[in-house]
Amino acid sequence: MVSRRGTKSKTPGSKRTSANPPSRKQFNPSLHRFQERYEQKEFQAKPHGIPVRVLSFMGVTVLAMSMYSGYLYASYQREVSKAQSLDVPRDVSDRYNSTAPTFDAEVELSEKAMRLGKKRGDLIRLARGDVLEVSCGTGRNLEYYDLGERRGTDDQGHAAVIGCRSLTFVDLSPQMVDITREKFQAANPEFTHVAFRAQDAGAVTVEAPARVRDLAGAGKDASDHRAYYDTIVQTMGLCSMADPVGTLRHLGEITEPERGRILLLEHGRSHYDWLNRILDNLAPLHADKHGCWWNRDIGAIVEESGLEVVEVKRWHFGTTWRYVLRPKILCGEKK
Ligand SMILES: C[S@@+](CC[C@H](N)C(=O)[O-])C[C@H]1O[C@@H](n2cnc3c(N)ncnc32)[C@H](O)[C@@H]1O
Repeated sequence: MVSRRGTKSKTPGSKRTSANPPSRKQFNPSLHRFQERYEQKEFQAKPHGIPVRVLSFMGVTVLAMSMYSGYLYASYQREVSKAQSLDVPRDVSDRYNSTAPTFDAEVELSEKAMRLGKKRGDLIRLARGDVLEVSCGTGRNLEYYDLGERRGTDDQGHAAVIGCRSLTFVDLSPQMVDITREKFQAANPEFTHVAFRAQDAGAVTVEAPARVRDLAGAGKDASDHRAYYDTIVQTMGLCSMADPVGTLRHLGEITEPERGRILLLEHGRSHYDWLNRILDNLAPLHADKHGCWWNRDIGAIVEESGLEVVEVKRWHFGTTWRYVLRPKILCGEKK
């Protein structure tokens, strides 16, 4: 297209060439020089190679992060001095009587973040036979039990008796037991081999487990069958009880000696000193509020109990512990 002045007007796709110079209106040399200087200053890399804008952004970020770290550190120090000034008794298990109604809501988010549901499921699926769960809390393991004993195949594909014949749920807090009972009965109204007791895990007795009851009910002699549980489960319980070692020893005595297992999923000390220092510093505050000593050495408790370790695993910097235990059978001992 030719303008009245004889220059070609700019059309989409047309290129500026010497044969096709820009009109005076379009090409302003001083504006062009300014643009060039601006681009050199703003966008061109400095000798260290980092553009000014990126440097400014990094500076602001570092400043914000250091202010936030300072704030966190000051809050942490405040909490530590509060924690250290408290005189908290070793037995804080009564806290659960008041926290029972809000317990699930309080732990839900952190359990999701730590993917604890999967770890619970993987452990509870090992439960078989007459099962006792102590420190059952609000029944956060209920959904993972395989109800009903029957013939099937185990993890390795071998023929085995699988599933739970009976379940007994025990917790020191009656409020916690009530929540477990309500959840279980709502989900499994047809499963009747189940019992709920508000009791100290360290004093649980085996009250006619289902196998003994069934034999007696069928008119058979049950006197050969010592009263044991085939599986004892406890998740996040050692942190809350007054005598964790004594309780584990007692559980070992009521576990079937040959094939019986004690399944634990617990939390406590970490692999790392820096994390243990934080847990130690804040432990009294956490125990007073939540009824749980989160700095316990779960490995030392298990070792002191004398139970035999079949399997141990740790996650989350070593603070989450999974154990499969069995009663220690001394050489030549016959139960
Ligand atoms: C942190 S909660 C864990 C609840 C549940 N097992 C879970 O995994 O979510 C600890 C539970 O242990 C119970 N507990 C504390 N001491 C106990 C004891 N000596 N015997 C039985 N239960 C106890 C508390 O009442 C509480 O319900």
